[in-house]
Amino acid sequence: MQDTAISALIEALPQPVLVLEPDGFVQAASPAALDLFGQRIIGAQLRAHLRQPEVSAMLERVLAGKAEDSSSFVLHSGSRETIWRVIARRSEAGLLVLSLSDVSDLEAAEAQRRDFVANVSHELRSPLTVLSGFVETLQGPAGEDGETRREFLEIMAGQAARMSGLVADLLSLSRVEAVEKIRPRTPVAIEMVLKATLAALRPQIDAAAIRLEYDVPEGLPDVPGDYDQLVQVFQNLIENGVKYGAGGGRLDVAARHLPALPGFDGPAIRVSIRDYGEGIDPIFIPRLTERFYRIDKARSRDSGGTGLGLAIVKHILSRHRGRLIIRSSPGEGASFDAVLPCA
Ligand SMILES: Nc1ncnc2c1ncn2[C@@H]1O[C@H](COP(=O)(O)OP(=O)(O)O)[C@@H](O)[C@H]1O
Ligand SMILES: [Mg+2]
Repeated sequence: MQDTAISALIEALPQPVLVLEPDGFVQAASPAALDLFGQRIIGAQLRAHLRQPEVSAMLERVLAGKAEDSSSFVLHSGSRETIWRVIARRSEAGLLVLSLSDVSDLEAAEAQRRDFVANVSHELRSPLTVLSGFVETLQGPAGEDGETRREFLEIMAGQAARMSGLVADLLSLSRVEAVEKIRPRTPVAIEMVLKATLAALRPQIDAAAIRLEYDVPEGLPDVPGDYDQLVQVFQNLIENGVKYGAGGGRLDVAARHLPALPGFDGPAIRVSIRDYGEGIDPIFIPRLTERFYRIDKARSRDSGGTGLGLAIVKHILSRHRGRLIIRSSPGEGASFDAVLPCA
């Protein structure tokens, strides 16, 4: 290849690439590598600019004759941390070509996956431990007593229900994630969604002695959506209002057509679910949509919560190009606004 062709090739490379001479001095660098290390890297020893013992050791191996090797390192710039993977190959002429790739996102996704698996295992293990304990007890002499048996079986049924609730939420989360990139297009009447949801939750609302203030005008435009998923959104938001806001004795369900609002290209519909309960300390609000995040674990669990509800809501709204806006101050209840674009 001609020199100009080689230069053109290097210049076009989107990723940082360095060419090292057999003695370790940097001979050429792609623009992305110059962005990373600065112009002064040319003609310098790489290890003088990249003080990473693992990378240096890897370079030594390749300079000593190994054909290919790889390593990784972490760069700190300001508060940002990036993780790089570097692959070194030796050319026939003895030159070393180092290609770097930013694997921060991959690493973050991997860490998230590990956390998720750990969380799921933990959430399943506690009810399972309770169940096994009671099975063992019932297998012993305590199992002969009718009263004890009834009592224990009831506890066991509760734990089994908790486990199936968790599995149901996990399945629902994974189904939503699987189609998250595909925007739903069927016209959906929000009024119908809210009516169906409230009818299903009526017994819970009545049992909690909550007065429902329903303010949804007729003739709201349809939104492109997935009916069942939108029912899931409002089911969780209204259920949360009932579970965590019951103290206030009142729940508002309101919808409005908004001709324009920041962050949206056109008109949208905003559905607000507002309770008058204890409310939420603002420091917790940004974390509420994280998977398994619950402010009061024991309380959420006692009411059959998994901490996945708002994570599912967020995914569904994002699939609909919509948004969830949470507002609350302690002692004044909480409002959850779901905003859905009309087109
Ligand atoms: N209306 C509300 N008022 C106060 N806290 C709430 C409300 N809605 C949700 N939360 C808090 O957010 C957490 C997460 O909610 P969610 O994801 O639906 O999980 P779950 O209801 O299964 O616990 C709840 O555990 C609760 O601590
Ligand atoms: Mg919930």
